[in-house]
Amino acid sequence: MDDEEKKLLEYIVSSCKEKKNALDLGCGSGGHSLFLAQKGFLVDSVDSNSKALEGLKERIKVKSVSGVTVINSDIAQFTSDKKYDLIIAVSSLHFFQIQAIKDILARIKNWLVDDGILFLRIFSNKDDEFIKYIKEGRQSAPNEIISPRINKSIHYFSQEEVRELVKNFEVIKLEECKKFADHQPDGQHWHWVFEVIAKKIS
Ligand SMILES: C[S@@+](CC[C@H](N)C(=O)[O-])C[C@H]1O[C@@H](n2cnc3c(N)ncnc32)[C@H](O)[C@@H]1O
Repeated sequence: MDDEEKKLLEYIVSSCKEKKNALDLGCGSGGHSLFLAQKGFLVDSVDSNSKALEGLKERIKVKSVSGVTVINSDIAQFTSDKKYDLIIAVSSLHFFQIQAIKDILARIKNWLVDDGILFLRIFSNKDDEFIKYIKEGRQSAPNEIISPRINKSIHYFSQEEVRELVKNFEVIKLEECKKFADHQPDGQHWHWVFEVIAKKIS
């Protein structure tokens, strides 16, 4: 995780009233989960990619980090009786269709404590890849394409859609920015994303 990402996470953590329970939806190999555990959170780390979760388990062992519970589940199927002080979904929710994303947001709101913090990073429809896919005729719904890379839909948000998505939260930060990504076989590249930090209001 680079310094910019650490600074952002420090800010998110500092926005949390309590630092007890966190949920990382679509944790991947768990860089954010490990960071939060090292800040004292008990973290539930959810992903459906077994290989990524094996990577996370290995990193937990190597770094001797405690407090991370690794959960192999589809985000849409995940349920919890817990209340979380912080819920993050970093570059994971855009892999759902818009109605499913809205449903997940409603569940996230229920899982958060009052004043709990939400951090989302989701693709923007300014992204070059989206524009390319649209030109290739891959649009499946407004702001949505079927990705030939993963053979699944990806939703690229407009500013209005993001505001609508978090309309029941108090928005602390909403920014459209270019983020570096290196998770694909074709190597390092940038994505236009929205970053949202928001607080649950009752
Ligand atoms: C781009 S990676 C981001 C990983 C991590 N949050 C990060 O920022 O480094 C997206 C992650 O979302 C996970 N994901 C996508 N769709 C999912 C689903 N329906 N249920 C659970 N995890 C999912 C993928 O397996 C992948 O690990």
